Amino acid sequence: MRNDLPRMRTIVERVEYGDTTVSLTMEFDDTPPSSPLAPISPFPPFSPFPPFSPFPPLPPFTPGQFVMVWLPGVDEKPFSVSRRQPGRLEVTIKRLGPVSAQIADMKVGQQVGLRGPYGRGFTLEENCCIVAGGVGLAAVAPLIEMFPQAPVLYGEDTRGNLMMTDRFPNMRIFTRDGSAGELGFPTDALPAVLSDPRIRMVYSCGPEVMLAKVARLCREAGVASQISLERYMKCAMGVCGQCTMDGLRVCADGPVFDGAQLLQATDFAFRRLDKSGSWVHLDGERQ
Ligand SMILES: Cc1cc2nc3c(=O)[nH]c(=O)nc-3n(C[C@H](O)[C@H](O)[C@H](O)COP(=O)(O)OP(=O)(O)OC[C@H]3O[C@@H](n4cnc5c(N)ncnc54)[C@H](O)[C@@H]3O)c2cc1C
Ligand code: FES
Repeated sequence: MRNDLPRMRTIVERVEYGDTTVSLTMEFDDTPPSSPLAPISPFPPFSPFPPFSPFPPLPPFTPGQFVMVWLPGVDEKPFSVSRRQPGRLEVTIKRLGPVSAQIADMKVGQQVGLRGPYGRGFTLEENCCIVAGGVGLAAVAPLIEMFPQAPVLYGEDTRGNLMMTDRFPNMRIFTRDGSAGELGFPTDALPAVLSDPRIRMVYSCGPEVMLAKVARLCREAGVASQISLERYMKCAMGVCGQCTMDGLRVCADGPVFDGAQLLQATDFAFRRLDKSGSWVHLDGERQ
């Protein structure tokens, strides 16, 4: 049985990208911890009780999954796992509103609460292309590490927002204002990449309008796509219904969905629930 209490983790590394985005790495005990609540037996090898801990280590992780990051007294928010190494877990945070800004300002040595990982991640196909927009790069970063030969199309508004360019020097970069890489959007280059018959899968995360375009281009080219979505989340465990999209719970049925399936969903790129449960319209058209 999994235990969904947040566990406090110490930040051991912090990398800043420009003014907006930060990667935080938390230390991680991958071995089952001993607990003060574990039953004490004079004959441990013959104990009928399994060791019990209220804070077990995180379960195994699939690229595309996310964790809930908790700042006690402030709030709790979902963030994609952007890197997982033995004993370490990284999230990458863009300063968007008050909570993300406070988490991004956390320093090495301070602690945050973590629970998860949650959701369905990507299923793996090495003959792939990866398309990322903005901080969506965080969700696909473990795939880029796993498939270093895959073409990566990464778009940002402007040079100052670029991230992970040292970690992934082979990314093809697009900026909306032309201040770095190529002028335009990553989807401008996707049709040419899809004409390569070796590409069997496109992975994508970013603004939903971009994701809808990726899904449509893949459908036209007859190439499968897997798309990671964001919705406002509260429980992250499929209970509260806050993250619903056409009857799907993004936290439990996603956040990674088949692109062709999303093109059947009328809320995709069109609307989402805000934290008070009101519909907020996104920039795209109803599918
Ligand atoms: C599965 C999942 C993974 C995520 N991974 C990351 C990640 O790796 N890195 C990262 O920086 N963020 C990620 N997010 C977003 C993150 O959880 C927060 O929503 C974000 O940091 C804003 O939180 P805030 O409280 O600071 O801002 P808020 O006050 O909630 O919002 C600030 C502004 O952003 C808008 N906004 C908030 N959420 C959304 C949304 N989902 N879609 C469109 N507009 C929105 C609000 O309307 C408001 O205008 C993820 C979200 C989900 C659901
Ligand atoms: S956040 Fe509660 S059901 Fe998804």
